[in-house]
Amino acid sequence: MVLINFIEPSGNVRQVRATPGCKLKDVAIDNLVSGVVAECGGACSCATCHVYIEEGLMDYVGLPVGLEAEMLELAFDVRRNSRLSCQIAVTEEMNGMKVGIPTRQS
Ligand code: FES
Repeated sequence: MVLINFIEPSGNVRQVRATPGCKLKDVAIDNLVSGVVAECGGACSCATCHVYIEEGLMDYVGLPVGLEAEMLELAFDVRRNSRLSCQIAVTEEMNGMKVGIPTRQS
């Protein structure tokens, strides 16, 4: 299992366990993490699963490309470490990763 530390919009940290291969969005939704909405269910067509990846892991996780990058243009408070969590598969290398959540989605 992989530990993910979600930082909810309130600042509260939720440490949850994730199975490698799962989408980061599903980890948040399944654990009732506050602030991740995921209206489209992971189809990369809503941008309400916007999160901030821990800066030091951006080289590993990578920048958004293609449709994800286009959808992020619709998101609120986009930063250089912004990603859509439905487009990220959890890996062992993410163990302990901090994932911020914007104060609102879109
Ligand atoms: S869940 Fe809709 S874009 Fe990620």
